[in-house]
Amino acid sequence: MISKDTIDKVFEASRVEEVIGDFVQLKKSGSNFKGLSPFTDERTPSFMVSPVKQIWKDFSSGKGGNVVAFLMEHEHFTYPEAVKYLARKYNIEIEETEQTDELKQQADERESMYLVSEFARDYFEDVLWNTEPGKAVGLTYFKERGFTDETIRKFGLGYSPDEWEAFTKEALAKGYQLEFLEKTGLTIVKEDNRGEGNRQFDRFKGRVMFPIQSMSGRVLGFGGRILKTDKKAAKYLNSPETAIYHKSKVLYGIYHARQAIAKEDNCFLVEGYTDVIQFHQNGIENVVASSGTALTPEQIRLIHRLTNNITVLFDGDAAGLRASLRGVDLILEQGMNVKVCPLPDGEDPDSFARANSFEDLTLFLRENATDFIRFKASLLMEEAQDDPIRKAETIRDIVNSIGKIPDRIQREVYVQECSRIMDISEEVLFNTLAQMGRKEIAEASKRQRQQRQQAGMEVVREQPSPAKIDQQYVLERKIIELLLIYGNKIEEFEDQVLKQDEKGELKMEKIVSEYRVFEKVFLDLQEDEVELGNEVFRKLFSVLVEKLGGAEDFSIDRFVQDLEPDEAREVTSILMDEEKYMLHRWEDQDILVKDKTQTVAQLVSETILNLRCYLIDKRVGELQRQTLEKKDGNPDILEEIINYHQLKRMLAQKLNRVL
Ligand code: CTP
Ligand code: MN
Repeated sequence: MISKDTIDKVFEASRVEEVIGDFVQLKKSGSNFKGLSPFTDERTPSFMVSPVKQIWKDFSSGKGGNVVAFLMEHEHFTYPEAVKYLARKYNIEIEETEQTDELKQQADERESMYLVSEFARDYFEDVLWNTEPGKAVGLTYFKERGFTDETIRKFGLGYSPDEWEAFTKEALAKGYQLEFLEKTGLTIVKEDNRGEGNRQFDRFKGRVMFPIQSMSGRVLGFGGRILKTDKKAAKYLNSPETAIYHKSKVLYGIYHARQAIAKEDNCFLVEGYTDVIQFHQNGIENVVASSGTALTPEQIRLIHRLTNNITVLFDGDAAGLRASLRGVDLILEQGMNVKVCPLPDGEDPDSFARANSFEDLTLFLRENATDFIRFKASLLMEEAQDDPIRKAETIRDIVNSIGKIPDRIQREVYVQECSRIMDISEEVLFNTLAQMGRKEIAEASKRQRQQRQQAGMEVVREQPSPAKIDQQYVLERKIIELLLIYGNKIEEFEDQVLKQDEKGELKMEKIVSEYRVFEKVFLDLQEDEVELGNEVFRKLFSVLVEKLGGAEDFSIDRFVQDLEPDEAREVTSILMDEEKYMLHRWEDQDILVKDKTQTVAQLVSETILNLRCYLIDKRVGELQRQTLEKKDGNPDILEEIINYHQLKRMLAQKLNRVL
């Protein structure tokens, strides 16, 4: 783990405008910078960076946050990777804190499984590089496959000794618990049939090891390839399904490919470990493998977060081709663009990448990658030549694929194209499409929408605005905004109090008192024992009051750095709403800026009063519902309602005076 001290130093040194400036061309615009959104294809800039607040906001995609959030969004870094990147940029030495044994124990089950898996990766690597059998058997094998030292280290390849329990013994000696060795599938525990208790042995005995990593680089499981020619044993053995390794949700190579996929805006899909590694070694890094199993929707979603384009590579033989074609419909269903690229006869991506230079390989891929539907139509046509029955089947088959595409316009383009390729009228194709049911198409596009939502990034992302305006949300957000922007400002607040005059009569009198904005907000809300309803706002409120109370030199940029992602998202969005007006003004000089004639004090009072009125209405509504349910009309409740009405009248009067 990177130490807190290092993280602080990194934030201290980083300038959001400098970091983003390495990726986006920024121009000065008032006190901010503006540029074209790096997340969408826009022509007019709606991407803003605030050097003062040390945040950025992309108004076209809704993304925004601090400097780390930018690197996570743009470079697809994990949090620690982003911090390390910044540390390198600003020449800060990284201090890592060791996990103590005690911490190791406290970590929950999944964490323990990750730790065991990471230990296993290190162990297999160590055996490969530093032991005689490792070097003689494992390393020699990888070298024969053409992998360089650099490649072998990059993918963390290793060797599991050809002994029954070499790994298990070492792990136990290092303090890892048998429970987690078994749960990760690295150790197999079997009851001894001679009644001598349990026996343990290493699952991957005598295999070369391929660690399987998550998108963020954690080790989830392993693939192990046997080296002996043993007809009975499977060539590749994988970790079983575990709490951290779900075959259907993992893509081999995604960790090493994610940046290249986003950059190239395309992902090559291959079959296995060696294909991915050989491509990397040859300079093509945007490549992942589904590892033997058929592609699943979850795997496609992983890719979809990074790009809209997939190119499926498959072996030249007919069987590989058939199998690949089936999986592709799933990709279409998610609205992605699919190309296919068959390799020459007898080649798989591994052998082909090894036999060709980077230039020849990229040229081949560029020239032979064909749009999937077009490819399938031509292929089916060839097969169905002059056979009317086969041809009818073929039409249904291709239309079935077209029907999976959620976008209507795209479907129509394909119908036209297939009509030409297959020499069938568009009408026939459209009719078949209609027969297959609009319902199915509607469902597919609904599914796709849901999946897109689920696939939302972990990083700062704006929530879609609710259809109905939630008054409480708006008012609470306004309160946070006031604290953020004016929290420490001293203002004169007017209030009405009851006072006795000389004759002893009670009179309303206007008094003026000075408060810092945050004090006024805090005191007024305290008075009614009002707590903010929104969880994020509630947390922000208490942190803000604490920080503002503790220091007069409260600075927003330091504040944003320390927040949780959901809090940071709200704060960024609030702060940048201010800037949006500037952006518009800059785009169109005629647009009027927000009315700023109100004083800050008025704004604060108005917001608090509105929130109090709103909450009273809500409470009264609840009470009225209660009286309706209990027919006997509880007098206590009625009295409470009356009291609230009086309070509300008083607040309304104050509100009128403020306005
Ligand atoms: N694969 C797998 N399970 C198998 C066979 C293959 O997961 N039983 C995957 C592996 O990821 C492998 C890829 O498919 O990298 C290619 O398969 P294959 O060519 O059979 O594996 P190689 O290790 O290349 O074997 P060979 O040297 O015989 O070509
Ligand atoms: Mn092979």
